[in-house]
Amino acid sequence: MSEQEKQSTEKVTGSFRTRAIHVGNEVDPSTGAIIPPIHFASTFQQPAAGEWGKFDYSRSGNPTRSQMQTTLASLEGGCGALAFSSGMAAIHCVTMMLKTGDHVVAGCDLYGGAYRLLHKVCNRSGITVTLVDMTDTAAVAAAINEKTKLVWAESIGNPRLSIPNLRELAEIAHAKNALIGVDNTFGTPVLVRPLEHGVDVVMHSATKYLGGHSDCLGGTLAVSKPELLDELYFLQNSTGAVLDPLTCFLVSRGIKTLDLRVREQSATALQLARWLESHPKVRSVLYPGLESHPQHALACEQFDGGFGAMVTFELDGTIEQTAAACGATRLFRLAVSLGAVESLIEQPATMSHASYDAADRARFGISDGLIRLSVGLESLDDLKADIDQAIR
Ligand SMILES: Cc1ncc(COP(=O)(O)O)c(C=O)c1O
Repeated sequence: MSEQEKQSTEKVTGSFRTRAIHVGNEVDPSTGAIIPPIHFASTFQQPAAGEWGKFDYSRSGNPTRSQMQTTLASLEGGCGALAFSSGMAAIHCVTMMLKTGDHVVAGCDLYGGAYRLLHKVCNRSGITVTLVDMTDTAAVAAAINEKTKLVWAESIGNPRLSIPNLRELAEIAHAKNALIGVDNTFGTPVLVRPLEHGVDVVMHSATKYLGGHSDCLGGTLAVSKPELLDELYFLQNSTGAVLDPLTCFLVSRGIKTLDLRVREQSATALQLARWLESHPKVRSVLYPGLESHPQHALACEQFDGGFGAMVTFELDGTIEQTAAACGATRLFRLAVSLGAVESLIEQPATMSHASYDAADRARFGISDGLIRLSVGLESLDDLKADIDQAIR
């Protein structure tokens, strides 16, 4: 990566909310436009043959992508960031650092797509995986062996919303010379910044809260050290899964209201979770903000300003009855994905986690009665009424 292409967060000052609006969004010097233009150019004129300007070819670097990466690096507290064509492309880039014979320790409360990548794609290159309960740091330490090169966790597990101790995990991984990556899609940098806890690389499906409006697909990595950034940049540039300029613009726009949205959605989610806990048709509720959540105390320490806007709860019914309840909501749309202004509902067993083997679903508590909510910006009373009529 050229010196110019590296994103610097040196100039950054101000609160999270201020940086989300101003960092990377400098006034366009040639026109004075408050909003930087979208650069669709695929190639850039060079000063001379063999001499490189700031940008040369859009896969290698693009001004609009660079701006978005600068904002994200500032919000996650990284030395730089990279934007990918999807969240899965971002995770894949991390796994491309591995080679045959390497071993990965990943959380058992893991997004289905990450499970599939590790078990059904990385295994083709002779990479092995052990899934562990990331909330049990002793179990993580025991699972790491001399071949373990990567520990992969989620800041809020999916779909059971488990909370790992990020500082302890980072210490364990580093003590055994493994890299630690955290998928912060559910947590968002508003609430938790894994790099501050010693994590090496933090990943987002930008499709979710960063974009925030269910209208774009993207992924990001933010990185703690320049050497790691260089390696990931090399892999991304060599394989090509970069984010296009229009989507970079949409994600940048989404990021400006990220703080506001996530705090508001988290506050609604907490109240909805409390209400669900007292609902006669609900067997159990998993939400890190509830005193009943097994890692509630850790969540209070590790999170700042809320516990996220994902709520998981369990009904007593069969897989068909639960599917019928999910299909009976009117405001909550039956769809995978999450993190947008509109609320969504889904059944992990048949939707987001369908790519798990049935035995692993049973082992890791992804029961037939489990329902996952992504709480949007609608009013709490309307959301309650919608769930109530669907589960009754
Ligand atoms: C926690 C989490 N990580 C990663 C991904 C993958 O992101 P994408 O769909 O943008 O590839 C998702 C998608 O749902 C997700 O929920």
